[in-house]
Amino acid sequence: MGASDLRMTRIPLSHGGGAIPALGFGTLIPDPAVTLTATRGALEAGFRHFDCAERYRNEREVGEALQAGRAALGIGREELFVTTKLWNSNHRTQRVEPAFDESLRRLRLDDLDLYLIHTPFAFQPGDEQDPRDDDGNVVYDDGVSLPETWSAMEDLVDRGRCRAIGLSDITLERLLPLYESARIKPAVVQVEAHPYLPETELLDFCREKGIVLLAFAPLGHGTSAGPLEDPVITGIAARVGKTPAQVLLAWAVQRGTALLTTSKSAARARENFDIAPLPEDALEAINGIATRQRLNDVVKTGVPGFIPRGKSA
Ligand SMILES: NC(=O)c1ccc[n+]([C@@H]2O[C@H](COP(=O)([O-])OP(=O)(O)OC[C@H]3O[C@@H](n4cnc5c(N)ncnc54)[C@H](OP(=O)(O)O)[C@@H]3O)[C@@H](O)[C@H]2O)c1
Repeated sequence: MGASDLRMTRIPLSHGGGAIPALGFGTLIPDPAVTLTATRGALEAGFRHFDCAERYRNEREVGEALQAGRAALGIGREELFVTTKLWNSNHRTQRVEPAFDESLRRLRLDDLDLYLIHTPFAFQPGDEQDPRDDDGNVVYDDGVSLPETWSAMEDLVDRGRCRAIGLSDITLERLLPLYESARIKPAVVQVEAHPYLPETELLDFCREKGIVLLAFAPLGHGTSAGPLEDPVITGIAARVGKTPAQVLLAWAVQRGTALLTTSKSAARARENFDIAPLPEDALEAINGIATRQRLNDVVKTGVPGFIPRGKSA
């Protein structure tokens, strides 16, 4: 496999959902002005897969940057793969399509490649994205079930509004019953995954069922003492003449996952797109890393780990 092949890897999606570019750019960037420049930088670096969310409160800036960047670079809509996510306060079935429409409007798109339920936790319905009681506890909503929200997602596929649907921040334990009951099976599951949290059991299930595992925080969210600084990773990087980030991203693609990486800097976006295949013994060495670390507890509570609190954008 040549270097360009790994960069261009696309993974087929179930239920006629097309194919997802393995290398994705995440837009969880709190600053609106930086969102604009970073999204444009990623597009110029070669990224064609962009991950968004209403909860990131910057779909407008992502939409603006994608529209301007596509025009300047001559990139057709069909070359782009755009994902966004339904937030926890919109799980009631009657709120799903309006939330979807608002996201599309902000993103300046007519349709979507992938729509995800951001977390399996329903919050009190409304415009408050982070509803809390007087004691500061999250106000959950027991008036809607995950299968009910999922059926509203299936309706969007039925009516051609989006090509594929999936879930994010879900454990295998919660995914199993939803998978069994779903009329349209989830095409993608987005979870934290890197060598310190390889999610092997979930990945095996996804492989067996033809679900794409989409890894967020593939660089360990850039944290110090995280996988970027692991001696196995830095050793392989020195041996193959790549950076630690490129080693981590190549490993993620070569094990069959898609990934989302983020950088505020255009130079790092270019670095992160410029991956090449690692030799088999390097992949095995990374698989053998024993350190375990979860960076984001969103999967346990539905409360996002890397995002400031706030109302709807
Ligand atoms: N579903 C969910 O709940 C969920 C949760 C978290 C994230 N996500 C998605 O996943 C995306 C990626 O998450 P993430 O931010 O944790 O990804 P990541 O790529 O693991 O980490 C990004 C961090 O690493 C740094 N970085 C980027 N490239 C680097 C390089 N080449 N060398 C050294 N450091 C580098 C960045 O800093 P600079 O910006 O300073 O370069 C940034 O702080 C998000 O944008 C979002 O779309 C989803």
